Amino acid sequence: MEFDFNINLLFPDNVTLVGRHVPGHTQDSRFQQHKNLQLVIEVLGRKSAKAQQLTGSITSLHKSQIHGHHIFVLKNPSSNNGRGSVIGFVKVGKKRLFVLDHDGNHNEVFPLCVLDFYVHESQQRRGHGLQLFKHMLQHENVQPSHLAIDRPSQKFISFLKKHFNLWATIAQVNNFVIFEGFFKHRTDVV
Ligand code: ACO
Repeated sequence: MEFDFNINLLFPDNVTLVGRHVPGHTQDSRFQQHKNLQLVIEVLGRKSAKAQQLTGSITSLHKSQIHGHHIFVLKNPSSNNGRGSVIGFVKVGKKRLFVLDHDGNHNEVFPLCVLDFYVHESQQRRGHGLQLFKHMLQHENVQPSHLAIDRPSQKFISFLKKHFNLWATIAQVNNFVIFEGFFKHRTDVV
């Protein structure tokens, strides 16, 4: 996804955690960069919602800041005449959930949840999703089986099975999906 401003200024790293720093030396330039950032996240949120056939976007810069969610953005630094383009994003955040275990007991947990995940249609199945996801895992210091996933799409289910050998074995009563190994060595069971 190309924009008419410099993506490389907005996202310094190949995978950037949004909000860490907004570039600009003056108040005006920081304001402009903030607006650019808002636009990129809005576009990504809209495209992701469309890809998942949701009725509306579930991701915006403002909402993520309020809820303390982390958005990681993957870019291609060399496209668009060196200004860079955006390939995709993943959004995660902690949530208090009740999840069922193998014995049918409700457990109150506070896991990191994958809330939104999208790679541009023209870039899917090239390993970009994996690159983003691995970066997020490392940054958040979490193992894949400890994540809860909010309404995963078929593509995402297939992705998790292929790359991390994860599959859901316990049906939940909420929209979240957990995997074999979710309860092993957890420290956040309330
Ligand atoms: N059909 C089935 N599986 C797919 C597809 C597809 N069209 N695209 C990717 N996958 C899965 C497969 O397991 C694939 O392996 P394969 O090509 O050998 O079958 C694997 O993902 C490829 O891995 P990557 O290339 O690293 O992943 P990619 O860059 O395609 O990103 C993602 C994966 C983010 C799920 C992407 O396909 C996408 O944006 N899909 C549309 C939006 C979406 O469904 N997002 C998840 C919503 S749920 C949530 O966010 C909580």
